[in-house]
Amino acid sequence: MFKFVNLSFAVALVYYGIAAAAKTPVQVDNTTLWVNAIVGKKGVSTVECWGIQPPFAVSSQPGTVGNKLLQLGNLANASYTVFPTGPDVDSGLHNAPNAQWVALLAGQGNINFPDSPHTPNLTFNSGELIIAVDTPGTSAVGHRSVWVGGTIALQMPFAPGFVPAHKTVESACPRS
Ligand SMILES: *[C@@H]1O[C@H](CO)[C@@H](O)[C@H](O)[C@H]1NC(C)=O
Ligand SMILES: *[C@@H]1O[C@H](CO)[C@@H](O)[C@H](O)[C@H]1NC(C)=O
Ligand SMILES: *[C@@H]1O[C@H](CO)[C@@H](O)[C@H](O)[C@H]1NC(C)=O
Repeated sequence: MFKFVNLSFAVALVYYGIAAAAKTPVQVDNTTLWVNAIVGKKGVSTVECWGIQPPFAVSSQPGTVGNKLLQLGNLANASYTVFPTGPDVDSGLHNAPNAQWVALLAGQGNINFPDSPHTPNLTFNSGELIIAVDTPGTSAVGHRSVWVGGTIALQMPFAPGFVPAHKTVESACPRS
């Protein structure tokens, strides 16, 4: 009796799953963190979307048990930058000083690519992470960053030789 009930329940679940899949043909990949990466390709800075590998794991660390957890990898010499409040701050054209993660804790950045007319401006919002790897030697002029006054950024360079493993999509990440 119990076996029969359980089986019906399982069949119903599978059927529901197929019906749900048919209604949502878009591939759901909610275990991967996708981030915009500023890269130097053929001497020009542009944007790719990187899916960081390995994907999210379930945390067993005290304080975050049971929640999604992603390792950012082997990092070195992180820094905290505060732009003055007031008008926008134009940092001009530059290469990434280090291959690194950048997180915005406040404010907003407009990152643009004068050498790559086909790369749309990238809006970098508070609460987001990006990767910047267009270091000298990979891109002739780099990218231009314009920061809203009061922006606060964390720069987290990769340790020597480290780049996070990733899947690559050849343009900026879609806005969710
Ligand atoms: C991913 O999405 C599916 C379907 O909405 C959900 O069942 C699952 O719990 C999600 N996984 C994570 C890690 O968020
Ligand atoms: C891209 O950014 C540049 C520099 O801030 C700005 O002059 C230009 O208008 C922006 N383009 C678009 C389409 O927003
Ligand atoms: C971090 O900074 C220290 C002190 O300036 C320096 O000796 C070290 O080489 C730096 N490490 C990296 C990976 O840049």
